[in-house]
Amino acid sequence: MKVKIGIIYATVDGQTLKISKVLQKELLKSGNLVEIYSIEDFNEKITNFDTLIIGSSIRYGVHHKKIIEFINSNKPKLDTIKTAFFSVNLVARKPEKNTPTANPYVVKFFKTITWKPTIVEVFAGKLDYKKYPFFDRIMIQFIMWMTKGPTDKTVEIEYTNWDKVAKFGKTLQNL
Ligand SMILES: Cc1cc2nc3c(=O)[nH]c(=O)nc-3n(C[C@H](O)[C@H](O)[C@H](O)COP(=O)(O)O)c2cc1C
Repeated sequence: MKVKIGIIYATVDGQTLKISKVLQKELLKSGNLVEIYSIEDFNEKITNFDTLIIGSSIRYGVHHKKIIEFINSNKPKLDTIKTAFFSVNLVARKPEKNTPTANPYVVKFFKTITWKPTIVEVFAGKLDYKKYPFFDRIMIQFIMWMTKGPTDKTVEIEYTNWDKVAKFGKTLQNL
């Protein structure tokens, strides 16, 4: 059966969108109808979807405000369909913080909201000091130093495990 799937993302530097596109590609393989929307311009009717996937990166310890607002104000409708949530952050580059039950941002997030998606995942994001404004770069260098990560300001590392993303896509097909 053809299934209508929506992927709603919030990103600043593009990594969450990149992950969303890989998920879309994976989900299209089964002949589903899969649309991607930025949280900035999602105006569709939630109940028109069989499955909604919501993805957000972390900025200074929190998911994007608009994503949180969207979830909180649409919880009753989200509860009537199949849903998934994924978080993108740099702490998840550490194997011991790379699961939804071990990633501190994901754990904290689901303590502050009542929505319980059908499935939750977490992916390591991208570190690209060149892209960050001065203040952000200093802050991220500090966070990286604290967590024993790279602090050289020329560093660009994509920590995202694309096999894990593809696997999540396969899991989403069978929700
Ligand atoms: C200003 C800023 C703040 C960030 N804060 C955190 C943080 O608190 N914890 C963390 O694990 N990663 C943090 N990150 C890393 C991002 O979550 C990571 O780079 C992710 O790939 C960004 O995804 P996006 O391009 O979709 O926004 C931060 C990145 C920036 C630029």
